[in-house]
Amino acid sequence: MPYYLPSSTSGDHAIRGHVVTVTGDPFLATDVLVEHVDGLIIVEGGVITAVGPYDQTKHLLAPDAHVDHHPDGLITAGFIDTHVHYVQTGIIAAFGAQLIDWLNTYTFVAEQKFEDKAYADAVAKVFFDQLLANGTTTALTFAAVYPQSVDAFFEEATRRNMRMAGGKVMMDRNAPEHLLDTAQSSYDDSKALIEKWHGRGRNHYAVTPRFAPTSTPEQLAAASTLLAEHPTTLMHTHVSENLGEIAWVRSLFPEADGYLDVYDRAGLLRPGAVLAHGVHLTAHERLRVHETGSAVSHCPTSNLFLGSGLFHVHQAKNHAHPVKVGLGTDIGAGTSFSLLSTMNEAYKVAQLTQYPLDSIKMLYLATLGGAEALGLADRIGSIEVGKEADLVVLDKKATPLLEFRSGQVGSLEEQLFVLAVMGDDRVVASTYIAGDVAYSRDGH
Ligand code: GUN
Ligand code: ZN
Repeated sequence: MPYYLPSSTSGDHAIRGHVVTVTGDPFLATDVLVEHVDGLIIVEGGVITAVGPYDQTKHLLAPDAHVDHHPDGLITAGFIDTHVHYVQTGIIAAFGAQLIDWLNTYTFVAEQKFEDKAYADAVAKVFFDQLLANGTTTALTFAAVYPQSVDAFFEEATRRNMRMAGGKVMMDRNAPEHLLDTAQSSYDDSKALIEKWHGRGRNHYAVTPRFAPTSTPEQLAAASTLLAEHPTTLMHTHVSENLGEIAWVRSLFPEADGYLDVYDRAGLLRPGAVLAHGVHLTAHERLRVHETGSAVSHCPTSNLFLGSGLFHVHQAKNHAHPVKVGLGTDIGAGTSFSLLSTMNEAYKVAQLTQYPLDSIKMLYLATLGGAEALGLADRIGSIEVGKEADLVVLDKKATPLLEFRSGQVGSLEEQLFVLAVMGDDRVVASTYIAGDVAYSRDGH
């Protein structure tokens, strides 16, 4: 059955192809995969007004409506990257270090360049081009400590009309002098940026204390004040990524009952709080993440690259106290902008924890799961009436080997699995933002 808004609009244009979307959490429910083998998505004003089998939906089209037809295309909701650093685009694949050394050797050097607005503008362009070429339509992003690096980010997001979230890094200790702010200046700068960008167009501000080791208790309190004053902003930080980091946090915050408790005591845990990694969270900490409505961004390529550890997705998604989980590329510790490649690595990490992560769950993590983590599931994350038409068209025949392999599949689940394991940016044929083509691999 096609679904349409009660007003039954005719739409200004439409996208036709093999429509596949996940409309619920497959870790907790069954029957959440919706498929229309020859499907039609009608869009008006950037929003989906009808979706269903082509034959049953085409009568809703205005006679002059333009239809983009992708006969070999598998159309899903645009991918959502729940943790990425645009300012680390230039240090992907930096050799040989684990988290703290990697930060000191590569990251803190690279981020200082973002004091220069022109440089930040140039990198933001590269970053957004990569997002779109990889089918990513929304990302929650770290900028650098400098407010102008946030301006560069939101200016580019606004130009591309993408639903994006990000913020200025807050860090007032344990980093090079040049990268440090203070509790007061980070509050003032973040507040000004919230007033400038949050809710403007499709932009969302995220209050962004880097991680517990680089913030004093005073700065974490300032972050909490910002969230209380601007309750619709997001909170974005790292937690329990690396064992050495966890020991360091314990020594810096001896009064806290572990790493997560540092954020809990500061009042930072709540819906819209996204905690990157969470590899080593204890059962009690996972319960607190659940209770507070916070989310974890699972970053498998990064966790493997830095040797951080294996995130147990099935523990996070336990039925009694499920945590919201999305996928993160964590560029530059992550090794690919592709959420397909990230699914592939998530599968392998799950294998090493004795859990077979199926393709529906992977697609969920990369789309609706991400939207739920960011508190944006009413607008993005699935192909449903009333949601914004941020879409990706995947080419099942993108390479000779994929064409051959796709010819052997016996089910949609198998096709999705093949695309996740074998696919990357080569598979992304088109990316739509609010119903408009924002990227086309073949240039038309
Ligand atoms: N922890 C604190 N900062 C960072 C960062 O930039 N990358 C990663 N992966 N972990 C962090
Ligand atoms: Zn990170």
